[in-house]
Amino acid sequence: MSIKKILILPGDGIGPEIMAEAVKVLELLKSEGEQLEWSFGHLGGAAYDAEGHPYPESTQKAARAADAILMGAVGGPKYDALPRAVRPEQGILGIRKDLGLFANLRPALAYEELAAASSFKPEIIAGLDILILRELTGDIYFGAPRGRRTNAEGHAEGFDTMHYSAPEVERIARVAFEAARKRSKRVCSVDKENVLETSRLWREVMINVSKDYPDVELTHMYVDNAAMQLVKYPKQFDVMVTGNIFGDILSDEASMLAGSIGMLPSASLDVNNKGLYEPSHGSAPDIMGQNKANPLATILSMAMMFKYTFNHNDLSDRIDAAVKKVLKQGHRTGDIAQKGEKIIGTKEMGDALVAALKK
Ligand code: NAD
Ligand code: IPM
Ligand code: MN
Repeated sequence: MSIKKILILPGDGIGPEIMAEAVKVLELLKSEGEQLEWSFGHLGGAAYDAEGHPYPESTQKAARAADAILMGAVGGPKYDALPRAVRPEQGILGIRKDLGLFANLRPALAYEELAAASSFKPEIIAGLDILILRELTGDIYFGAPRGRRTNAEGHAEGFDTMHYSAPEVERIARVAFEAARKRSKRVCSVDKENVLETSRLWREVMINVSKDYPDVELTHMYVDNAAMQLVKYPKQFDVMVTGNIFGDILSDEASMLAGSIGMLPSASLDVNNKGLYEPSHGSAPDIMGQNKANPLATILSMAMMFKYTFNHNDLSDRIDAAVKKVLKQGHRTGDIAQKGEKIIGTKEMGDALVAALKK
């Protein structure tokens, strides 16, 4: 791959603000000679406003043609009353499904520099480095049937279907075992096998696939216990693999181990490691337009893009190191500041990051 073509989808709420800071990083890298090209598209509410659909055809075409996609966040109260099919959230779900982005990597690291700002005792999180691997194109998010009906007693009902096929579980299992091989060789599969049929299948497939990875230890945990263990003793985990809905919830929980949801990046990959990179957080309507959002999760997501899609580990490591450097220098947006610490804005954090990244 010579010129790397990146599609940027800023989205809604704080999306455009955090993305503007990520673009500053791309500009710096390009000025150093990196072969990068980027263009902008619409997704979510911004796409609904401009083109009448949260994942319009123009974005579909651009997304399929791009080598990688960077996304901000979608959604917001302005759009909450829209029918489900055109809500901004359908934009992100649509692009994930359309591009087959089934593997969602959400790494949670405890930054030493943020230890004091965390709500955890330092010894609970010191040195923490876990990878939450969330299946992203199946489960109750996409299962059919779903909808509304009136039941025999005349009451309104809503229903969704939790669904997994064996091949869907197998491919995410393989991603988990391969990832664990590069880490500390432990996979914890999280399910609700004591209640759900989908989880019984999930566990069976995990056990079968694990036979191909005798060097990796596989354990299982029920999701309710996992939610508790994550805050009790998070360092017991290395790779945690789970389904779409459980992974959504557990990854937001894990973000607090990293100090803030504003620090949690994510990569959503297809079978060829083409990816969509986005922070794990949402559009934060409560702070939008105020220069308050932390852009680091977005910039860390860009670092993941260089690692996973472009195999450019040096660049990825350099961006990760620049994030650590700005934290060490004491730069803090509101979400990661301790009482009494000076708070800077989104733009100022982006500028500090670019300065730290300069060679
Ligand atoms: P949220 O993640 O947007 O916000 C939760 C809390 O975290 C808020 O207090 C917010 O201010 C804070 N926060 C989030 N990102 C931050 C950042 N970068 N810096 C500082 N603080 C940050 O979740 P929500 O409030 O439940 O959802 C808001 C909207 O975002 C909804 O429409 C939801 O559907 C959407 N959403 C989108 C995505 C996505 O695009 N991938 C993810 C989650 C939620
Ligand atoms: C996330 C978000 C999305 C999800 C929503 C906005 C559809 O919460 O990326 O974590 O549930 O996957
Ligand atoms: Mn979520």
